Amino acid sequence: MATSILSPTLLAELRSESFVTSPYAVYRRLREEAPVVWVPWSEDTGQWWLTDYATCAEALRDQRFSKDIVKRFNPEEATPIDRSMLFRDPPAHTRLRNLVNRSFTPRTIERLAPRIETLVDELLDGLGRDGGGDFMAKFAMPLPVTVIAELLGVPEADRPAFRRWSADLIGASDATKQSEAGYEAALAAEASIAQYFRDMMALRRLRPTEDLTSLLLQVHDEGDRLDEGELLGMLTLLLVAGHETTVNLLGNGLAALMDHPDEWERLRAAPSLAESAVEEMLRYDAPVQRATFRWSLAATEVGGTVIAEGASVAVVIGSANRDGGQFADPDRLDIGRTPNRHLAFGRGVHFCLGAPLARLEARLAFEGLTRRWDGAAVAEGVVRRPNTAFRGFRHLPVRIGR
Ligand code: HEM
Repeated sequence: MATSILSPTLLAELRSESFVTSPYAVYRRLREEAPVVWVPWSEDTGQWWLTDYATCAEALRDQRFSKDIVKRFNPEEATPIDRSMLFRDPPAHTRLRNLVNRSFTPRTIERLAPRIETLVDELLDGLGRDGGGDFMAKFAMPLPVTVIAELLGVPEADRPAFRRWSADLIGASDATKQSEAGYEAALAAEASIAQYFRDMMALRRLRPTEDLTSLLLQVHDEGDRLDEGELLGMLTLLLVAGHETTVNLLGNGLAALMDHPDEWERLRAAPSLAESAVEEMLRYDAPVQRATFRWSLAATEVGGTVIAEGASVAVVIGSANRDGGQFADPDRLDIGRTPNRHLAFGRGVHFCLGAPLARLEARLAFEGLTRRWDGAAVAEGVVRRPNTAFRGFRHLPVRIGR
């Protein structure tokens, strides 16, 4: 019977190295034994983990769970990213999100398709010339960073610095980096990004262009709707959220296809399946395994368990997406799966703003890849990111061909 008490063996599994590589069997046990459970990382820190689909879907929408860092902590200490929409509750969230919503609708984003197709072709040419190589370095990392940098108006010469800063920011949550050094690198990266965007805003103020930075600046300058800190938070969030997550979708998606040559063949034979293949990749091996933290604003009952006021809550998307109560044969990769109401982009007011962009990049990437190649295999030197929230590869060397 499900309880809200974690067994010592499950806690040990959550702490083990193998949880990074293979979390899905552990999630299954959690769903079966304790779908709403307090995970005590130490004597004085822990979180409630929610792992079944219905509870996760509900919690993502539940406004009794706050994400508002500014409300919870000292507003004076809030960094630009703390003040971004990802970490605010309505109505502050609504106002921030409305300012960028129009730039990210599927229709607006679809206009980027020809440019993304060109980038995909160029990057695949590079991989093809060498018969393969590290898919992360040669394809999965350069594609999203180039797209988001072009959207924001970051010149080409500055992109390597962007990649570094973004990796440092997210690296702070890598399991092996829960050290002062990791956090210092993250703070330094955030400061470098902030300074860079401040300079860019000053330049765009003098000479506006067509990019998103100029657009946001006009909203900022025409009224008092976005202050300097909010603008910085918005730009930083778009850069970080739009980068690492899509990188991981591309890497995890390719790994899934390489593990399932039949599904590769199926996509190659029917390229119109690319859209649903991407949805299945998002479900099967979600790039964001746990949503960003929420806190209960009041004692809240979830799945028969009371979560005390102020407790922190992790919605385990990666587990919800494998729940057999929602998905038939959940551990099987089925690129034609329908319906497929996965939670990889969240739910409710914080539903991923960049979903249309991530979907487009991935669709064009996998269409291109499977059109060119009849298969690929993993080569020596695979390295996973030591992170259980952002699931992905640091290196994914591949050899092209069956
Ligand atoms: C495969 C790629 C991506 C995945 C898996 C992903 C996942 C997510 C998830 C799960 C959330 C909700 C977090 C929560 O409720 O705690 C979210 C929010 C967000 N994402 Fe994404 N994301 C991806 C790509 C992108 C891209 C390309 C962009 C921007 C260009 C982006 C921008 C955002 C923003 C701004 C939010 C906050 C929305 C809000 O608070 O209203 N994401 N994303």
